[in-house]
Amino acid sequence: MHVLETRGLKKVYGEAEARVEALRGVDLGVMPGEMAAIMGPSGSGKSTLLALLGGVETPTEGHVLLEGVDLASLSDDQRTLLRRRRIGFIFQSFNLLPILTAVENVALPLELDGVSSAEARRRAMEMLELVGMENRHHHVPSHLSGGEQQRVAVARALVIQPALLLADEPTGNLDSVNGQRLTALLRRLVDEHHQTIVMVTHDPEVASHADRIIHIRDGRIEREERLRPSRPVVVQEASSVIASPGASAGLGGGVWSIPPGRKPRRNPS
Ligand SMILES: Nc1ncnc2c1ncn2[C@@H]1O[C@H](COP(=O)(O)OP(=O)(O)OP(=O)(O)O)[C@@H](O)[C@H]1O
Ligand SMILES: [Mg+2]
Repeated sequence: MHVLETRGLKKVYGEAEARVEALRGVDLGVMPGEMAAIMGPSGSGKSTLLALLGGVETPTEGHVLLEGVDLASLSDDQRTLLRRRRIGFIFQSFNLLPILTAVENVALPLELDGVSSAEARRRAMEMLELVGMENRHHHVPSHLSGGEQQRVAVARALVIQPALLLADEPTGNLDSVNGQRLTALLRRLVDEHHQTIVMVTHDPEVASHADRIIHIRDGRIEREERLRPSRPVVVQEASSVIASPGASAGLGGGVWSIPPGRKPRRNPS
């Protein structure tokens, strides 16, 4: 089954003179543990597509299904909950809170979801270790380089153990060395943790690490390029996450239910 599926997705912004058809019917399926890159000219609808996939915006027409659940069938509150528990976002601008340290930034999504501070911090440290930032956990973003800030942002996106990681130009503000490092990290999340990733990028080098490149033009899929064969992985149903309001993000497992011996290393402290 697809982790993510869209059917006839359309998005229109504005009216009359200001009317823009940002998406004109997108049908897309993303398999568990797949890394898909979305490429296309400026204004072709890439960020719009990502916003719809993440349930941040609602489609004018068509459907988005995450783990088989139609986002349109959910109330606003349920959709917010699903987004908070099943989707991780990274952006071009790292979007870390400036007054919080790295570990506090990473722990925040868990604390917002009612996880105790101690547990949130423990899991945040695990994620910082995964991205190689455990030694800088006490730094505020302004004391970190761009590449380091983006790795913290990745850790924050992953701390909820998302079914889907959405990234809009994640290397856009990084120099080439840090861009390559981040791309390698994303690839490792796919290869070692079966993380499903949909990433928008302008950079062909970054896109070349994906399993598939989806080329978008004028709000439509123009063509797809498969770079690596897809590998089947079992995932948890999203419905169980929404159905039990007491459940904490990711505790049920999902894509992060990794076979023994493949779990991220624990922080010794
Ligand atoms: N909130 C909005 N209101 C009105 N029009 C919008 C809005 N968001 C996007 N658009 C328009 O929709 C079209 C697609 O925009 P989108 O941001 O998805 O493009 P993009 O492919 O991400 O471009 P870029 O590569 O420059 O980031 C553009 O014409 C844009 O001006
Ligand atoms: Mg964009």
